[in-house]
Amino acid sequence: MKWNFDEVIDRKCYGTIKWHPYVLKVHFGYEDLLPLWVADMDFRAPEPIIKAMIERVNHGIFGYTLPEEDSYMAVINWFQRRHNWNIQRDWFISTPGIESAISYLVLAFSKLGDKVIIQEPVYYPFRMSIENNGRRALVNPLKLNDGHYEMDFEDLEKKVKDPRAKILILCSPHNPVSRVWKREELEKLGTICTKNNILVISDEIHCDLIFPGFIHIPFASLSEEFAQNSVICTSGSKTFNIAGLQTSNIFIPNPIKRQIFANQMENLSLKFPGIFGTIALKTAYNECEDWLDAAMEYIKKNYEFLKNFIQERLHGVKVIEPEGTYLIWMDFRGLKLNPIELDEILKKEAKVGLDNGQMFGTGGLGFQRINIACPLSTLQDALERIETALKPYLNQ
Ligand SMILES: Cc1ncc(COP(=O)(O)O)c(C=O)c1O
Repeated sequence: MKWNFDEVIDRKCYGTIKWHPYVLKVHFGYEDLLPLWVADMDFRAPEPIIKAMIERVNHGIFGYTLPEEDSYMAVINWFQRRHNWNIQRDWFISTPGIESAISYLVLAFSKLGDKVIIQEPVYYPFRMSIENNGRRALVNPLKLNDGHYEMDFEDLEKKVKDPRAKILILCSPHNPVSRVWKREELEKLGTICTKNNILVISDEIHCDLIFPGFIHIPFASLSEEFAQNSVICTSGSKTFNIAGLQTSNIFIPNPIKRQIFANQMENLSLKFPGIFGTIALKTAYNECEDWLDAAMEYIKKNYEFLKNFIQERLHGVKVIEPEGTYLIWMDFRGLKLNPIELDEILKKEAKVGLDNGQMFGTGGLGFQRINIACPLSTLQDALERIETALKPYLNQ
């Protein structure tokens, strides 16, 4: 094995958000938790990235820097090779991360009081990017049918008719319910939005984290019409565990929409991506494909472990079968515990830091999200703590 994903690396130092006792205290109310929340990996990033960054450090000058032309080619080739999608060079706009980009996109493509459609339960900063900017969230809730999440197109047809609805933020693949949307689902959603003049912002940050048997389809690759009516947000941050480098690529095929967003970024003086993010991304896309495949294999094994553990030892808890991402959505509604008690027991007794499902909005109550991109021993420790703390409430 070229990589050691079993290695437990101390991350409490360097201000690591996921592990830092101070952050845990502020977020959860307890500092001594085993954290499986924030969506980054506890794995060391691929060696070629580390080497490329050290080489750049040794140059010793870190003035204003634009990405070199070959870094665009690395991205273009990656999406061609891995996702069968032809990106044009002039579609790129670099931003320091996707969470902030979504806020800027909402500002650029809607007005105060307009409505933005989201499919909850979903990555909660979507709602923040809407409400913190004086827009209103219009929820098109996902439906849970027999342990499988689906889009509610009937409801979506109604929501897009709202005259204040301007944008839909799509999470593809979906965090937290781990769906990798099928071609038919994306086509249906795209047709409804395009017909009703609703811009689709497709957040595809998890597009490389796909389990065997599933294929990620970039929304804009489905048709020219969809491409012209969409903004696609991508990044290597989840894929290669480089989120702290704050670099992402937003693709906007329509030139007018692209100019509107470029103006927005110009107004915010957000012009240059960081030196290290660009270098890391270029190296990742050119040289680290084998690392990603190995990491996904490891994550899949972690999932099998989690699933078996739940089946054998956490009776009453259910897990939603994931299709992608390393974020697993667990259903605790079968236990005789209300969600507030559950949350408190997980923190206070089990001493684990998971993401409380309620944060993800409509349909999240009674669920918890667990991040399994960690050494197996960490996952095992967390599950055993949960088992011990929940013993009195588990089904027979
Ligand atoms: C769906 C989704 N979008 C965006 C982000 C954050 O992206 P960034 O770190 O580039 O701001 C996350 C992180 O968890 C995410 O899950």
